[in-house]
Amino acid sequence: MCGIFAYTGNKESLPILLDGLQSLEYRGYDSVGIYIPNAGIVKSVGAVQELKKKITSTMVGTSGIAHLRWATHGEPTEVNAHPHVDCSDTIYVVHNGIIENYKELKEKLISLGHTFRSATDTEVLAHLIEHQLKETEDFELAVVASLHEVKGTYGIAVSYKGDPEKIIAARLGAPVVLGIGINKYFIASDASPLLRHTKDVVYLRDGDIAVLTPQNYRIRTYTDVEVIRKKQVLDFDVEQVKKDGYEHFMLKEIMEGPQVIENTIRGRLVPEKGLVKLGGLDAVNEQLRTIERIIIVGCGTAYYAGLVGEYMLEEYAGIPVEVEIGSEFRYRNAPVDKHTVLLAVSQSGETADTLEAIREAKRKGALTLGIVNAVGSTIARETDAGIYNHAGPEIGVASTKAFISQLTALALLTVHLGRQRGMSIDVGRNITKELKLLPEKIQSVLDQRELIYSLAQKYAGSRDFLYMGRKYNYPIAFEGALKLKEISYIHAEGCGAGEMKHGPIAMIDTEFPTLAIAPHDSVYEKMLSNIEEIKARKGKVLAIATEGDIRLTDIISDIIYIPQTLEMLTPILSAVPLQLFAYYTGVAKGFNVDRPRNLAKSVTVE
Ligand code: M6R
Repeated sequence: MCGIFAYTGNKESLPILLDGLQSLEYRGYDSVGIYIPNAGIVKSVGAVQELKKKITSTMVGTSGIAHLRWATHGEPTEVNAHPHVDCSDTIYVVHNGIIENYKELKEKLISLGHTFRSATDTEVLAHLIEHQLKETEDFELAVVASLHEVKGTYGIAVSYKGDPEKIIAARLGAPVVLGIGINKYFIASDASPLLRHTKDVVYLRDGDIAVLTPQNYRIRTYTDVEVIRKKQVLDFDVEQVKKDGYEHFMLKEIMEGPQVIENTIRGRLVPEKGLVKLGGLDAVNEQLRTIERIIIVGCGTAYYAGLVGEYMLEEYAGIPVEVEIGSEFRYRNAPVDKHTVLLAVSQSGETADTLEAIREAKRKGALTLGIVNAVGSTIARETDAGIYNHAGPEIGVASTKAFISQLTALALLTVHLGRQRGMSIDVGRNITKELKLLPEKIQSVLDQRELIYSLAQKYAGSRDFLYMGRKYNYPIAFEGALKLKEISYIHAEGCGAGEMKHGPIAMIDTEFPTLAIAPHDSVYEKMLSNIEEIKARKGKVLAIATEGDIRLTDIISDIIYIPQTLEMLTPILSAVPLQLFAYYTGVAKGFNVDRPRNLAKSVTVE
């Protein structure tokens, strides 16, 4: 969801800003723009490549702000691209978020004589600052006073012609990271573009305003002129955000699966005692012993991970679990109390709906936990305790490696809570032992990518797809369908296989294929019957099955095999071929799978 980047220092800013934009490109690619004081502003529809074509060698300077847009208010046109400017061309603003009261602010500013050029909400910020500057004659005070008037969410960077080396950034509900170098400072929507410059960062908090010059930085709030925020050192490096020879980040990230699971379980398993160690929960362990209910909240893929978590936690830890999408939980009055845990699952740790669900549950007294991948992100900071996935940065807009690491973290949490509540040592040993074997088993699924590639070629012409599964693989049917929709734009529906005859089967004909997730588990026989029902209606079926399954081969020929594992862990294996299938289908159809249309990696607005 929109990316902002800014730099001030003693080097040429143009290549630094372009490079920053390129690293953030997965956040938005509707339009792009850049401003360098005294050199000018350039904007373009499309991504950074388009902007580069318009840049001339005269764009010289040592500071600047830049933006990638994911349109909310106003079409993706050049006029609506950021930076936005005031009437006198002195204030330049880039913004991620939504100014909710922009209409009334705009009316007020128009009545004061301001002229607007774009249809965006952001432009009011530039005019507000211009207006305040006339009153205060101080850039910093003008920004502070303007933000007082604004309702909504923002991560902004502002540049002022009258003080060209200074950048002012602010955050409320949209992520902003400050990068600290020697005589150089940066602002970015996330840490990835900072890595090639510095590993020292400060994650701004809501209400923080950072004032940067080439010599130093200072953080203030609306009221205090200076506050101290802890510096953090990034724990990943630039290599992790490169494609490593793969054509797309999505493929690279799927192929990282074995390593990702190694990282999620590293140092956390104690198989001989049937235990797991989760240091991030130490502070709340006693409280966890007394909880009566868990509500898992997430969006998109993270929500589907939560659904698998529900099955794991209820079966093995005996705790009642509900799973909700963030955008619903935050607006309904769910009964929550101090015996409830709100468990938020999020790759980015910045998803607005998930974050607001946490805040709502906190207000009602719940204990909040996070399963989060992005270290230092807002959800990681605002939850009481949590588990980091350690999947490394995920750049592909479609979530892949983060999903299997979320499932693994949920399995770890299940053992942890289960062992607190009467799970036997033998069951604990069994699960931890199987978790250890997962990386090797995922590798054997990845080794079948040629087969998956050829199946994707075969089915890429389909207009629709039904995905069906049961029990632990019921959520995987929805996740598989989501992946295919996102990447190949094929209409795909997830469905509980038992539900099929209550409606979805009406769609089945020779042109409407089904992907059945049918591993050898406790609902295998039922899945076989459902596959037969599809076949009886002349529907084509492609299946995920367990190695050695010979009964399925009598009915269908398109089968991808996954190794045997515990039933509760099968989703971690069955998700992988579905990710590859979606990937190769998207590629076969000629789409840029790392930048699916209309999507953004991190959804920081409602
Ligand atoms: O960063 P989060 O895990 O909170 O993101 C949640 C969803 O926006 C995300 O999973 C989305 O559905 C992806 N595009 C799925 O591939």
